[in-house]
Amino acid sequence: SPVPTQSADIVTLQAHILQQQARHPEATGQFSWILSALAISAKMISAHVRRARLDDVLGTVGNQNVQGEQQQKLDVIANEILLRTLGGREGVAIVASEENEEPVILREDDSAERKYCVLFDPLDGSSNLDVCGSVGTIFSILRKDRRQRDARGSLLQAGAEQVAAGYVLYGSSTVFVLTIGLGVDMFVLDPAYGAFIRVAQGLKMPATNKCYSVNEGNRLSFPEGYQHYLTWAQEQGYSSRYVGAMVADVHRILLQGGVFMYPPTKKAPKGKLRLMYEANPMAFLVEQAGGKAMSGPGQRILDVQPTDIHQRVPVVLGSASEVDRLMEKLSG
Ligand code: AHG
Ligand code: MN
Ligand code: MN
Ligand code: MN
Repeated sequence: SPVPTQSADIVTLQAHILQQQARHPEATGQFSWILSALAISAKMISAHVRRARLDDVLGTVGNQNVQGEQQQKLDVIANEILLRTLGGREGVAIVASEENEEPVILREDDSAERKYCVLFDPLDGSSNLDVCGSVGTIFSILRKDRRQRDARGSLLQAGAEQVAAGYVLYGSSTVFVLTIGLGVDMFVLDPAYGAFIRVAQGLKMPATNKCYSVNEGNRLSFPEGYQHYLTWAQEQGYSSRYVGAMVADVHRILLQGGVFMYPPTKKAPKGKLRLMYEANPMAFLVEQAGGKAMSGPGQRILDVQPTDIHQRVPVVLGSASEVDRLMEKLSG
């Protein structure tokens, strides 16, 4: 009897990038090179994460980053890997990281045809490392705004301007999820071959699911509408799932539906998550998968005009019907 096959052909992330590039005859290849830098970074960070305890690189380095957080050793390692791989790519003009106060200008000249800016959260959920929990990397790619003179200015574009965004989840598998504005594609790292293999194209999130993901310990300091939604959801028998690493929590919502939120709290009146490194790339992915991503009633995350590269925003994202219901509760 014939051997059953899972899918017609095996496509690596590298081949996928080349296929996309071939559809754009005007493409210079710079963009593809940037994606391949992100792919090799993902493999390198994945290898470090998997060996962290053996290599004795767990714990903090002893100083705070610009976010006021204790930097973990692996935050620094992951950040350096991304700076190094992206730094070598011709097409990258500026990189900005959650871990660096100032953006890094790689190329000043405006001569080349196209220049991109890459923004990233090198290691998301890094406090999970000590307990072998899931962590991730999040990235966002913008075209450099040439009308702006300084680096910060050229990065302050609304999320709707992103040309690509994605994340890498270092979970029980290493998963690379990408959008270039043509839907969402998913790849899994085959540890035997060292290649990301495409496992899903045009991913769509379920229209609804009785599941919410939030740090419920903060509940009493959420604005009332959030508390009303949670009470309602509990009465309906919803499940609660929270890893505490945005990449892992959003990945679950993307595949299974439901709603993820990081509301304003007393401690963090604008929420905790960062617009440029966390909210915008995730919002782009979620919308591309048919979901919604809002910062409040009538406020789509992708339309927020940034004023600071490290600014924070409240985040509500997931299945459209769940996000709508929560927005209704927020507007009273
Ligand atoms: P990071 O490790 O990049 O600083 O991000 C941590 C973020 C995010 O991953 C997660 O959703 C959130 O912090 C969890 O915050 P709480 O511990 O307040 O729930
Ligand atoms: Mn951090
Ligand atoms: Mn993060
Ligand atoms: Mn981080």
